[in-house]
Amino acid sequence: MADSKPRKIGVGLLGFGTIGTGVVKVLQENADVISQRLGFPLELVRIADLDLETDRGVNLDGVRFDADASALIADPEVDIVVELIGGYDVARRFILESIAADKHVVSANKALLALHGKEIFKAARAANLDVGFEAAVAGGIPILRSLREGLAANHIERVLGILNGTTNYVLTEMERTEEAFEIVLKRAQELGYAEADPTFDVEGVDAAHKLALLVGMAFGAELTYEDIPTQGILQMTPLDFELAAEFGFRIKLLGIAKCHSDEHGHEAIEAHVGPAMVPVRSLLANVDGAMNAVEVKGDAVGPTLYYGAGAGEMPTASAVVADLMEIAREIQRGGAGAVAPLSYLPEEIKPKPMVSADRIVHRAYLRFSALDEPGVLSKITGVLGEFGVGIESVIQRQTEMDHGRVPVIVLTHPATEEALRSAMKKIDSLECVGGPSVEIRIEEEI
Ligand code: HSE
Repeated sequence: MADSKPRKIGVGLLGFGTIGTGVVKVLQENADVISQRLGFPLELVRIADLDLETDRGVNLDGVRFDADASALIADPEVDIVVELIGGYDVARRFILESIAADKHVVSANKALLALHGKEIFKAARAANLDVGFEAAVAGGIPILRSLREGLAANHIERVLGILNGTTNYVLTEMERTEEAFEIVLKRAQELGYAEADPTFDVEGVDAAHKLALLVGMAFGAELTYEDIPTQGILQMTPLDFELAAEFGFRIKLLGIAKCHSDEHGHEAIEAHVGPAMVPVRSLLANVDGAMNAVEVKGDAVGPTLYYGAGAGEMPTASAVVADLMEIAREIQRGGAGAVAPLSYLPEEIKPKPMVSADRIVHRAYLRFSALDEPGVLSKITGVLGEFGVGIESVIQRQTEMDHGRVPVIVLTHPATEEALRSAMKKIDSLECVGGPSVEIRIEEEI
């Protein structure tokens, strides 16, 4: 057995924005604990970014800093390249260039991995290199490491959670202040909780990117975020929060994935992102502000819950540096590329069918915008009955919504997603109803 002293592992940073700055701070401020745990230092060798002017408030003595990403990738002192540029094309090119140059890669880019993960993981495996992406899902929460290692002995039955901090902040504030979505979103932008362009967040796309990665790791299922039916929070109104509270629920944007198995052992995946009502006493209901939480249920371990900051400079940097440490250890042991990044061996990750809507059953909160005229309620409830959707309660509020219409809320008994969708489509086509109507799924098993 070799007894030579471990060598330093060199890190190159592509992208010196908020998270990049956090990575530099963690590497510098926590250098003691990092080398006490590794037994050797992690050395930041160089940084590349187009912005060479902004003062990031960190000491760069001994670190080469320029705008030449390709030179960084080719630098023999760099063992691991950290991609924190974001976006698709440039980031993808640099990651593939790094792999071609025999460099391990760490990235926080969930959008890129949700779209091009297959290509990147394949190239890395062929070259026996590691790709770390803990920071891509739920920021500082070590959820990917938990799925890959701590829960590796389980068949995972479901993984669900609050995967987007921006929308959780907006929903929490809408409930607290009883203000409209647009007002709360504007304030969230002013306070830095929402991006100037919050489209990916508020439309649920960011959560779908993260859920696609979780589904791969949890179930060995190949699926992209485009396969996941996704609904955002734009349609939420103060009335929804008021009634949710009356019914004993809170509203959260959830990413939900379950693995269904039939009597022949054939698996199908249920995956969905959308606003959900969760029981007020549940743990997830009490995850407020910009925090994230993920619940994973395994057949051996039962339910487990992970909570923490899903974004932000230092929590995200914590996850990036943890990946650097894991890869650095593997390099020292000569075992890099041995742990499959998606937990399953690549040949075991297969396309699996999505569960059909007639097998997904839940209660629902439905909100219609209807004319306040005799017979309207019976038309709505009649269509629900036609599709076999049972009604638990009906509420009509006098608040005017649009074009003289008023909100009509129906709380249903458990019904199939297919029946709910078909009934809502038909109700939306009624002249007395101004669509599109709103469905909030009720998730009771949380
Ligand atoms: N926009 C994301 C969020 C940032 O709000 O959670 C972290 O992915």
